[in-house]
Amino acid sequence: MAKVATETKKSAANSVTSSKTFEKIQAIIDRTSNKAGASIRVLQQAQGLVGYLPPGVLKAISRDMKIPLSELYGIVSFYSFFSLVPKGKYVLQVCMGTSCYVKGGEKILDTLRKDYNLVPGGITSDGRFSLEMVRCLGCCGLSPVIAIGKDVHRKVKPSHLKDILSSYR
Ligand code: FES
Repeated sequence: MAKVATETKKSAANSVTSSKTFEKIQAIIDRTSNKAGASIRVLQQAQGLVGYLPPGVLKAISRDMKIPLSELYGIVSFYSFFSLVPKGKYVLQVCMGTSCYVKGGEKILDTLRKDYNLVPGGITSDGRFSLEMVRCLGCCGLSPVIAIGKDVHRKVKPSHLKDILSSYR
């Protein structure tokens, strides 16, 4: 059974606060800051470097680019491809749209929490899965539905989860 990635988060936090990481971010800023859309470009590249955008990275970008931190948070929350939390190797999305909710989406979430200690916004201790809730994946007739990466799994029962998750290495 996987547990929430306290250790993974600690090591990720340590690696993102390393001076080498900040040197690399400074280099990104130096070569990007005079280009159009510089703030989005810098945020994208910093996320590519670190994997997500922790507060320390956003503060450094804010300070070095002289952009208010609130403006950066505004950009990050507007564009769905930015993330303020670490992501797993696979992003597991559980649909909680009306049809999936009625047909057992909540039981899937319960099983992920109980058996994998995985909650929305969380990540497994091995870094394999992070969990998101979504509103509709467009195949309501086959609910409940989960998506892992580009794969959509239909008519999922909690008892299917072990086999489904074990097929992602
Ligand atoms: S509500 Fe889940 S796919 Fe539409």
